[in-house]
Amino acid sequence: MKLPELKIGQHVAKIPIIQGGMAIRLSTARLAAAVAEEGGIGLIAASGMGFDELRYEIRLARSLTKGIIGINIMVAAREFARYVNTAIDEGIDLVVAGAGFSRDVFPMGKKSGTPIVPIVSTVKGAKISEKLGAAAIIVEGKEAGGHLGTDQSLRDILPDIKKSVSIPVIGAGGIMFGRDIAEVIKLGADGVQMGTRFAASDESNAAPALKEFYLKARPEDVVLIKSPVGLPGRAIKNPFAKKILECTADEPETCGACLKHCARNFCIISALIRAQQGDVDTGLVFTGEYIHKIDKILPVKEIFARLLKEVEEIN
Ligand SMILES: Cc1cc2nc3c(=O)[nH]c(=O)nc-3n(C[C@H](O)[C@H](O)[C@H](O)COP(=O)(O)O)c2cc1C
Repeated sequence: MKLPELKIGQHVAKIPIIQGGMAIRLSTARLAAAVAEEGGIGLIAASGMGFDELRYEIRLARSLTKGIIGINIMVAAREFARYVNTAIDEGIDLVVAGAGFSRDVFPMGKKSGTPIVPIVSTVKGAKISEKLGAAAIIVEGKEAGGHLGTDQSLRDILPDIKKSVSIPVIGAGGIMFGRDIAEVIKLGADGVQMGTRFAASDESNAAPALKEFYLKARPEDVVLIKSPVGLPGRAIKNPFAKKILECTADEPETCGACLKHCARNFCIISALIRAQQGDVDTGLVFTGEYIHKIDKILPVKEIFARLLKEVEEIN
């Protein structure tokens, strides 16, 4: 099977693979640039970063590649608009908005000509996005890592969503191998977004202990927790996730008011930072449903080579 190019606004990715944004600081410049270098689209996860840090990461990514670099930012972040404007000011190629829906982001993109790409899980969300000016949409199924907007499989929701809009549709959730990419493209997707596979890559900014932890995960270790954002989140059941499930996690002692609305059942920023730094007992380890299918930490170049070879072998 030959993969199509993926056009989002004025940008054309030779390979229709987006590396999903992964907070906090799992997908930074190095990972995004490595993916962009292979012809895909690399996303820097802005959530939880400082604004100068975000500028630095965008500039660093630009120094590493001439490929397509975007940011991913959580709509639920209190400073959502400032993150978007900072990235646009740095000349970012596209903005992907997840964990919630924002109408306000579309005029920001329009002003600068920056493509805005919301993450949706319903026909309604897809149609509104197109009407408001989205350049493309990412359709995320329940298999995805991080915050979830649906309990339905990508394979079940994708065909109807594809039929309902005429902008590019990118499928996300549970895509690990070339055969998954081929399947999702055959279902009508114009491209795919992959998170977990890249979280467990050489260029991922996860600490080595977190990458090793990912490799040990079994299917029964993956659970849904209640995130303070107000959405379910997919994570590995470590001691901290058990506490969240039992409602015994500590409430935040200090609070930077990072979210527009926070349930305060625990501090998600510090929990994700602990995981990124390799504390796999007290950190919140976000993951996709199919983490157990990953048995090796690989460089991005090798991940792309394997994916493309597998796709090529499919009729
Ligand atoms: C560790 C981790 C962190 C994530 N963080 C974010 C995030 O900050 N914003 C977002 O929109 N999606 C986030 N996601 C979702 C990914 O961008 C991607 O859409 C999803 O993981 C795709 O499913 P897959 O992991 O099965 O490939 C995260 C996923 C993982 C695994």
